[in-house]
Amino acid sequence: MRGGLAAIVIWGALTGAAPAEEEGRRIGDPVRGAEVFGQCAACHEVGPGARHRVGPHLNGIFGRKAARFDDFRYSDGIRRAGRDGLTWDLEHLDAYLTNPKTLVSGTRMNFRGLKDRRDRDDVLAYLRQFSDNPSDIPEAAPTARKVEVELPPEVLAIMGDPDYGEYLSSECTTCHQIDGDAEGIPAIIGWPEEDFVLAMHAYRRKIRPHPVMQMMAGRLSDEEIAALAAYFGALE
Ligand code: HEC
Ligand code: HEC
Repeated sequence: MRGGLAAIVIWGALTGAAPAEEEGRRIGDPVRGAEVFGQCAACHEVGPGARHRVGPHLNGIFGRKAARFDDFRYSDGIRRAGRDGLTWDLEHLDAYLTNPKTLVSGTRMNFRGLKDRRDRDDVLAYLRQFSDNPSDIPEAAPTARKVEVELPPEVLAIMGDPDYGEYLSSECTTCHQIDGDAEGIPAIIGWPEEDFVLAMHAYRRKIRPHPVMQMMAGRLSDEEIAALAAYFGALE
């Protein structure tokens, strides 16, 4: 929770210092964001003439559909998210940069994430300068609601009861086959419990785009998610 608290304090200080309207329009500081982008630059280019490197170029990223380029070899996970309708607005960029695999399991973006909210705000303010007419992209408006994707440590610390998880799992195995992917439905066994918990909460908070999974996850309590993570995690 420490990070969350710090973010609230900083937000309070900012809104006290500037007119509310101006504050609402500002994502962060693009000049500082250019420095933060140094952490991305090993893999991504942005700006005039930017090309795909290890990662796709990031021109026009605001409002761009996830995994949009045919000439870049994306992971299956992010392609599926794109098919489900994931579009890079502020909320989803923020979630992806906080912890890429929360939003996209199996993403090829091998990056631990920017845990500091200010770093994310600043780098996104920097990237937004390379999107066409950013103010014409309503869903990318900087005032769009951002959802905190980092789970409080006490939620991550819940020890799931695998027997209870097994009991609950019959609701899941109508679609998810225990022995692997089937008909486009991904396998969910043998995952690290934390990844499983993060993915389920991302559906519950509707950060991940799939409506059926949003509904399934929306019915589960924190304890039930932990129990399912313990049960499916132990299966091989
Ligand atoms: C180690 C290399 C690496 C680093 C560092 C990295 N990325 Fe990525 N990034 C990738 C790869 C590879 C993909 C493609 C992901 C996939 O296929 O699942 C990607 C995908 C993305 C996408 C989605 C693009 C699309 O077309 O859907 C965004 C947005 C993104 N990265 C932003 C960033 C930002 C901002 C940073 C720095 C804070 C960063 N990345 C750091 C390798 C990296
Ligand atoms: C009606 C069919 C259906 C049911 C029932 C269902 N799921 Fe899913 N699930 C899916 C589909 C389809 C996806 C892929 C969604 C996507 O593209 O994000 C998915 C994705 C997932 C993922 C993410 C997989 C990945 O690779 O990113 C997890 C974790 C998951 N489901 C867990 C569960 C659990 C736990 C239950 C039971 C409480 C459950 N599902 C019930 C269809 C279902």
